[in-house]
Amino acid sequence: MAGVTGWPVAHSLSPRLHGYWLNKYGIPGTYVPLAFAPEGFVEGIRGLQASGFSGVNVTVPHKLAAFEIADTLDVAAQAIGAVNCLRFLEDGSIAGSNADAAGFLDNLKDHGVDVTVGPALLYGAGGAARAALHALLQAGTPEIRLVNRSAEKAGALIRNFDDPRLHYVGEMAENKAMGDVALVVNTTSLGMKGQPPLTVDLAALPDTATVHDIVYVPLKTDLLRQAVGRKLQVVDGLGMLLHQAVPAFEAFFGTRPVVDAGLRNHMLEAL
Ligand code: ATR
Repeated sequence: MAGVTGWPVAHSLSPRLHGYWLNKYGIPGTYVPLAFAPEGFVEGIRGLQASGFSGVNVTVPHKLAAFEIADTLDVAAQAIGAVNCLRFLEDGSIAGSNADAAGFLDNLKDHGVDVTVGPALLYGAGGAARAALHALLQAGTPEIRLVNRSAEKAGALIRNFDDPRLHYVGEMAENKAMGDVALVVNTTSLGMKGQPPLTVDLAALPDTATVHDIVYVPLKTDLLRQAVGRKLQVVDGLGMLLHQAVPAFEAFFGTRPVVDAGLRNHMLEAL
């Protein structure tokens, strides 16, 4: 038994995703949505632990609370300061990990993107930005230019990572920081259903650049449409969701699952 805890959680695609793999690999397991209000999170997690659950994924708004409750943390969770997977071990301890950074990178790799070939321009300074930054820095991206509405939040993030390759280029970096950019990444919530679009002019990007939006509802954001119009390579956000689930499924159910077209199509039917 495993599941995903969030508040709300009904919108989560994780039960559909893990359910597909359980069925595909013939594993007699369950993966359920678990709606825990923030004030009931700790009690809820202890209850799952006592009930024989293997573990849970953790989504908004519990990633920091999960970080707090974990007895041990993997390197990514420590660097990102958030946990998206809790495993209940036989000795009674809780292991926290974060697969968002690995999922981000594996998705880009899946699309043949080499993040070491040139500078990246990254929008956002929230939780998703932390995961993407950790991934890019670890993978050897030579320079990362950060753009964010709040300079203060961007500054805090940059101080936290303390890496000379990372710097803030302003609220609207547009043409001045784009001429040599190999990868553009949107980690803000702009472009998500119900949110305003990310308004940025991609005209100055080189023809070889890749544009990646981690938003997946909708799958084709205005940003990606503009990139397609410029004939640039685009990577949508669904792949990151699929790839970050791989280590969690393996930890919960003992089989390393594969991200393939069948899974992607199954998920697209729900979007
Ligand atoms: P997540 O965990 O999904 O990354 P978050 O931590 O709330 O969510 O971060 C949201 C990001 O989207 C932030 O970079 C935020 O910018 P600020 O740091 O300036 O708040 C950005 N964002 C959200 N709404 C925005 C808007 N209307 N205009 C510009 N940026 C916005």
